[in-house]
Amino acid sequence: MKVLIVGGGGREHALAWKLNQSEMVKKIYAAPGNAGISQLGECVNIKADDLSGLADFAERNSVDLTLVGPELPLTLGIVDQFEARRLKIFGPSKKASEIEGSKAYAKEFMQKYHIPTASFKIFDDKNQALDFLKENTFPLVIKADGLAAGKGVIPVDNFYQAEETVKKIMVEKIFKEAGSKIVVEDFLEGEEVTIMAFTDGKTVIPMVPSQDHKRIYNGDAGPNTGGMGAYAPTLFVHDRLTKRVYEEILEPTILGLERENRTFKGILYAGLMLTELGPKVMEFNCRFGDPETQVVLPLLKGDLVEIILSIIDGELELENIDWKNDFAVCVIMASSGYPGKYEKGKDIWGLNKIKDDALVFHAGTKYENGRFKTDGGRVLGVTGVESSMDKAISKAYTSVDKIRFSGMQYRRDIGKKGMKLKGKYL
Ligand code: AMP
Ligand code: GLY
Repeated sequence: MKVLIVGGGGREHALAWKLNQSEMVKKIYAAPGNAGISQLGECVNIKADDLSGLADFAERNSVDLTLVGPELPLTLGIVDQFEARRLKIFGPSKKASEIEGSKAYAKEFMQKYHIPTASFKIFDDKNQALDFLKENTFPLVIKADGLAAGKGVIPVDNFYQAEETVKKIMVEKIFKEAGSKIVVEDFLEGEEVTIMAFTDGKTVIPMVPSQDHKRIYNGDAGPNTGGMGAYAPTLFVHDRLTKRVYEEILEPTILGLERENRTFKGILYAGLMLTELGPKVMEFNCRFGDPETQVVLPLLKGDLVEIILSIIDGELELENIDWKNDFAVCVIMASSGYPGKYEKGKDIWGLNKIKDDALVFHAGTKYENGRFKTDGGRVLGVTGVESSMDKAISKAYTSVDKIRFSGMQYRRDIGKKGMKLKGKYL
């Protein structure tokens, strides 16, 4: 079959890598893809949010299955458009994707279905928000309602910071319309974990738990990024906790969405805080996480296409999903200046020295004049897969040490906090 992957980051390269192992897949297209994906398939220059351009391409090229990486096309309704044109596509509908597209919607949904999350208030009026904040105790977290590329979540420690933040979001409109509503919620303490799940809207099967490293610097310092590294599985999420996440969060979410006429088919991503009172949802995403996918897919046994087709057919309950007994650690190599302004077009050296040691997933890269060059903030994800965390960490960094580009930055401590938490049952 011919498969089209929408997107062009490390997550999409990991998807292409996994699909390439399927007996069923004869041809991979990616729109827009990147230099790494172009080694496995054909990249086409269509933007991920050009829904009709993508559907036209799929129709013209008899694409049998489309997979969507990023949230934007999903929240814009790519699945509804493809399905209206009888094109097979994997992912949630526009209405189901609102669980990521609107944080206000997600919070009200969770409240209605008693899914544990931080207590919150929603405002579309600046003065009402400020009146509420004046009366409150801190820390709190202020979130723009709509999509803001991971930047719309701002923790505040006092009223002064809260006032500044509300002004930036609601008056200066730094997130544009995404900030016309805000969610103010309690600051949660604990350990963060990502649990992604396959679901066909009835059956929900969690993947191995993973942990992202969102801050730019070692020791979780500095500003938030799209993610500087990840590892899986987490050693602190034991079976009892997984069961609790399933019973208190995943299953009621899927049942609730069905009851709301927003049946969710695809990947449900739960970003959780493991608090003293148990797991609480910080965010839902309607897609694979990045970089989490770069550590979770290498641990998945079997054929991803088979799982995806059974989800589309509503037969996930018949699937047996197995995981390797290994550990995967992914180190993101980013451009100088990221997550702020950064330069592109730097030569990348050393990729040819990586043989069977680690998996190198490309994110912001291009191939020009016979060379790989940087073309984004996050440039590469280097994933080591091994039988222990220690070994996976050293495998990833041995390969990272062979790669160079001007201004590169990466964290040296990916996976370390996971090692510290080993055996600590939260
Ligand atoms: P989100 O996009 O909602 O997952 O938020 C991005 C990051 O902000 C999360 O991964 C957490 O590190 C942090 N965060 C979000 N909500 C909260 C909260 N209620 N308490 C503490 N940290 C939070
Ligand atoms: N790793 C966070 C995300 O994919 O949104």
